[in-house]
Amino acid sequence: MALHIRRVLVTGGAGFIGSAFVRQRLKSDQEIAITVLDKLTYAGSEENLAELRDDRRLRFVKGDICDPSTVDELAKDVDAIVNFAAESHVDRSLLDPGAFVQTDVYGTYVLLEAARKHRHQRFLQVSTDEVYGYVKDGRSKESDGLAPRSPYSATKAGGEMLVQAYHASFGLPTLITRGANTYGPYQFPEKIIPLFITNALQNLPLPIYGNGSAVRDYLHVDDHVSGIARILWKGEPGGAYNIATGTEVSGVEVADTILKLCQKPSSLKHFVKDRPGHDYRYALDTRKLRPLGWEPALRFADGLRVTVEWYKRNEAWWRTRKSEDFWQYYRANYKGLPANAVPD
Ligand code: NAD
Ligand code: DAU
Repeated sequence: MALHIRRVLVTGGAGFIGSAFVRQRLKSDQEIAITVLDKLTYAGSEENLAELRDDRRLRFVKGDICDPSTVDELAKDVDAIVNFAAESHVDRSLLDPGAFVQTDVYGTYVLLEAARKHRHQRFLQVSTDEVYGYVKDGRSKESDGLAPRSPYSATKAGGEMLVQAYHASFGLPTLITRGANTYGPYQFPEKIIPLFITNALQNLPLPIYGNGSAVRDYLHVDDHVSGIARILWKGEPGGAYNIATGTEVSGVEVADTILKLCQKPSSLKHFVKDRPGHDYRYALDTRKLRPLGWEPALRFADGLRVTVEWYKRNEAWWRTRKSEDFWQYYRANYKGLPANAVPD
């Protein structure tokens, strides 16, 4: 049967990557209608979709993916679900794993049930390279086994297992994307890049875990969401697809580049206690995705430069997020910080 996906339920569409997906799809596809379902946790905000306020193709609903009646009501009127909704920060998963089990596993089950009942054409689960665990050498292929090591990555792997089971057991046309560490505008300032940019702009220390040698493959959010769209429309149901650039950058390199772009001294670098169970490297093989016609458009140096510019121009956006609650989390996560590490 030919794919005819016109109405899409985007869960978690008020968060960082979900909102970028919504902005990009509405800009590039005049036929599409999107319903966003988002609980608006600390990480989500309608402000992230503000530029689309007058677009009648977008509907926003505040609600929880763990609530079957809300999900069912919205799922009956769409052709596909793209699930971005998740608790997404590794460090918070070490402080409160239960919230991750609830949304990333149980919430995925609720969405899968609705997709099955309403015979959706596609169910796309946005997952992560972290499900492969720490990869010392070589690159992870989609056929490799999963070996998650943090509560966050374990619950993302749990969500994936349910998705695969719904494909095998019920024939649901599912897709899984495993994206690399993503950065860009509207990212909550708890993740390394927005945290380091905004701390630099506030003249606060940049807390580098351990000796800063852990590497990530930093993927610009516009490239990540264009990959997700390719996979939604062209991917083989039942399959998983890696999305990454193939480059590796260490934590110290991230800090040095940001300090240079913000014209701040390297004395702001501050080495702190390592993240427990720190995965020092992920690396993805993207040969399965390339034939679908995707490749990253932004090199890290350029992507980081435009991202720093965005945070400089949008100070009110990130200052609101660095609230009293944020600094409470910060003190709990980064123990033993010097007095000058948080604002007065
Ligand atoms: P985010 O934390 O910025 O956004 C998550 C969104 O989900 C928020 O808007 C939040 O309000 C919403 N949400 C949380 N729980 C919900 C619930 N129970 N019901 C409805 N909405 C809920 O996260 P992000 O960085 O945009 O990540 C989006 C997805 O991409 C996640 O599934 C994450 O695992 C995955 N991912 C993230 C990255 C990355 O580097 N950020 C990389 C690969 C994959
Ligand atoms: O790889 C995909 C994953 O990328 C996503 O699934 C997650 O949702 C997303 O949060 C991200 O996880 P990471 O753990 O890679 O991102 P984070 O920004 O937390 O950390 C990136 C690296 O930087 C990691 O090696 C830890 C280090 N780090 C992080 C923070 C927050 C620091 O050195 N200091 C910090 O303060």
